[in-house]
Amino acid sequence: MDSLLIHGGQTLVGQLRVSGAKNAALPILAATLLTDAKTIVRNLPHLHDITTMVELLGSLGAELMVDEKLGIEVNGATVNKLRAPYELVKTMRASILVLGPLLARFGEVDVSFPGGCAIGSRPVDLHLKGLEAMGAEIRIEEGYIKARREGRLRGAEITLETVTVGGTENLLMAATLAEGKTVIRNAAREPEVVDLANCLCAMGARISGIGSSTLEIEGVARLNGADYTVMPDRIEAGTYLVAVAATGGRVRLEGAVPHHLDIVLEKLREASASIEIGSDWIELDMQGRRPSAVAITTGPYPGFPTDMQAQFTALNTIADGVGRVTETVFENRLVQTHEMNRMGAKISIEGNMAIIVGTEKLKGAPVMASDLRASASLVIAGLVAEGQTRVDRIYHIDRGYECIEEKLQSLGADIRRQPG
Ligand code: EPZ
Repeated sequence: MDSLLIHGGQTLVGQLRVSGAKNAALPILAATLLTDAKTIVRNLPHLHDITTMVELLGSLGAELMVDEKLGIEVNGATVNKLRAPYELVKTMRASILVLGPLLARFGEVDVSFPGGCAIGSRPVDLHLKGLEAMGAEIRIEEGYIKARREGRLRGAEITLETVTVGGTENLLMAATLAEGKTVIRNAAREPEVVDLANCLCAMGARISGIGSSTLEIEGVARLNGADYTVMPDRIEAGTYLVAVAATGGRVRLEGAVPHHLDIVLEKLREASASIEIGSDWIELDMQGRRPSAVAITTGPYPGFPTDMQAQFTALNTIADGVGRVTETVFENRLVQTHEMNRMGAKISIEGNMAIIVGTEKLKGAPVMASDLRASASLVIAGLVAEGQTRVDRIYHIDRGYECIEEKLQSLGADIRRQPG
């Protein structure tokens, strides 16, 4: 297995272009299953999770044409297998996103039940309850979710008990082809949900309330194809901003949407960063300063993103003061703190809160992480540690960060991939 070798201590300076958003691209690719027309999706990031989703679309029978510029054309007319197999779902939970579209279009689908994962138990009960409210019959058999409906799904009033990104996306996609009106209350407002909704509208869906917590969908009998460009990845952008801030450096991010990162930028300013923004760029300058410790509490958008929590934990380890990081979205997402302590960080855990006493220096060590964002946070820790850090199991990073070592090298980091 490959690892990343990092010699910490460099101040990162330079500019980067933000890639397309993984968590918007995945549901948008699933949405291509809603139509028998051809859909073009552009600005896909070059990531393992995207490859897995494309493989899943292919295994369902969709004809695919990939161009050299991160675009793909999906022909939904050839879809003829209505089963997402265990082998693919176990490598990527987001495979559950084909459930809504296939059920809505074909009235039948089997999707392997996604298990829990490193960050928590991650049930899909709200996806299933919502589809049942729309008239689906759902059975769990032999590890598969088997969903059936004679004729079209019917519009329904659904109030989600918890804000769920994937649940909102699955139900939103299903509702576009249902008979009548669906109202989804307490819907997720994440920019990735908005991007999916905009893509669905480009395909002819009738959705109002986009970006709010109440989505109203007037079902249509058929959707068209579309030519859609995926939004920039706010979590990738945020991760590089934190990495640069931790090293006291300076960076300009091109192709970002600053507004998607409001609370992240606010917290970086609190951590002593100078930040300027334009319509599609962000500049951060630490002017060599040591970051100040910050307190964060994760929550659904527009709250602080759980996908940025581990990176801020890393920033706090070398900050001036005591930082408190509270994770409210997933029950097991502070695990990276144990690895950081092996690098000399001073973190203690109280329930769902990490208390981080900032220290001037971390020390390099071999570390590994069990999820994507935790891995990214260990890379950040490695960038500020004295000596060599080896981050193992980097297949997690490759699921979510395009060319991470090249991008960091271009900012002056001493980082390389060691094939294992
Ligand atoms: C999405 O996961 C993202 N993944 C995650 O990014 C992200 O961390 C998460 O949203 C929160 O922002 C994709 O978009 C592919 P949820 P998702 O349903 O949709 C509970 C990354 O690193 N819940 O919003 O699976 C659930 O257990 C990943 O890129 C139920 O109880 O997250 C959790 O506590 C990791 N029942 C909370 O809701 C359900 O039916 C939020 O989960 C569904 C969810």
